[in-house]
Amino acid sequence: MTVNITLSANPVAEAEREKLLQSPIFGTIFTDHMITATWTRDGGWQQPELGPRKPFQMNPENAAFHYGQQLFEGMKAYRGADGSIRLFRPAENAARMNRSARRMAMPEVPPELFLDSVRTLVSVERGWIPAEGSLYLRPFMFADESFLGVRPANRCTFCVIASPAADYFRAGAKGLTVWVENETSRAAPGGTGAAKCGGNYAGSLMAQSRASSEGCDQVLFLSACGNRQIEELGGMNIFFVRKDGRVQTPPLGTILPGITRASVIELLKADGITVEEVPYTFDALQADVEAGEISEVFVCGTAAIIASVSRLKHSDGELEIGQPGETARRLRTTLQGIYTGDIAGPDGWSVIV
Ligand code: PLP
Ligand code: COI
Repeated sequence: MTVNITLSANPVAEAEREKLLQSPIFGTIFTDHMITATWTRDGGWQQPELGPRKPFQMNPENAAFHYGQQLFEGMKAYRGADGSIRLFRPAENAARMNRSARRMAMPEVPPELFLDSVRTLVSVERGWIPAEGSLYLRPFMFADESFLGVRPANRCTFCVIASPAADYFRAGAKGLTVWVENETSRAAPGGTGAAKCGGNYAGSLMAQSRASSEGCDQVLFLSACGNRQIEELGGMNIFFVRKDGRVQTPPLGTILPGITRASVIELLKADGITVEEVPYTFDALQADVEAGEISEVFVCGTAAIIASVSRLKHSDGELEIGQPGETARRLRTTLQGIYTGDIAGPDGWSVIV
C-alpha cells in the first residue's frame, strides 16, 4: 500500500540530532515524522500518510479517553555492519496487532498497510538510528470518535511513531532485581492479558510503583486464580534455566505472546535444549531455588532484549538467583547478531527495509 509522503519543513538539525543520539533514554526522544491512517466503519481504511510528527486534535468526548479502546505494538529497526537497515520478524507484530484488534473490537489493520507504514517511516527516519542502539517503533491504534455511548468505535486511527533507543535497563549487565507482586494481578482467564492494550499496562503501574519503592527494576505478576502461578513481568516474558539444562517458561493464555519469547524458544530448541511451556508456581520456584535447582532466571522482550534476573524480592523476603548466566548471555549475543544481520538467523527473521 503506498504511503503519501509530506516531509517536515522543520526537521531537527543534524548536529542536534547527533547530540540526542549519544545516549537516548528509552521513550524520551522522538523523530521528525509519524504515519497516520484512518478507518471508518462505512469507508474502511484510508491511504496512510507520512507527515511531520504533531499533536492530535481530539474532542474531550473522544471514546479513547473514556473507555480505553486502544492497542499498540513495539518493534525495533537496527543498522547492520553492511549499512542495511533491518526489522526483526515484523510480520509477527502485524499479526499480533490484529489479534489484539479482534480482542478490543477494533478493525484489523491490513498487514500490507502495517508493514508498508513501518518500512516507510524507518526509511525516512534512518538518520535517527543510534550507532549503539536501535530505532524503537511504536505502531498503535485508538478509537477516534466523538461518542460517549459504550460500543465499539466507528472511527479508529492507526499511527506509527519512532524513538531512538539504547539499553532499556541501565543496570542490565549486573542483573535485575524483580519485585514479586502479591496484591494485584495483571490478567485473568478470559480477560485481555494476551492483547497488547494500554489497559493492561495502566493496571500494572501500581505494582510497578511498589516495585520501584522496594528498590526493584521490574514487577513480576502471578496468576489471578490458581496457585500463584508465575505469569510475566510488566513488559517482558520470563524464563527459568534448571540445573539439569532444561528451560521453562509460563504457557500462553493470560500472558502477552512475546515475539522474543517465541524466538528464544526456537533458538534454544535448535540448540537441542529442552524447553517446557508449563505452569510454575512461585512456591515451587522458591523451593527449587532453595534446593539449588535453578541456575538462571532471565526476561525477554523487544525493549529489554534479554536481561538476567539476579534477585527476586517478595513480601516475605528475597530469593537470590546469582550472577547473570551463560544462557542469557549467549541468547542476547545471538539475538543482537540476528537483529543487525551479523548472524544469519532462521529464514525470514531479519527483514531488510
Ligand atoms: N510481555 C509484556 C507485558 C510486554 O509488554 C512485552 C513487550 O512487548 C513482552 C511481554 C515481550 O514481547 P515482545 O517480545 O514481542 O516484545
Ligand atoms: C516492548 O518491549 O515493546 C514493550 O512494549 C514493553 C515496554 C516495557 C516498553
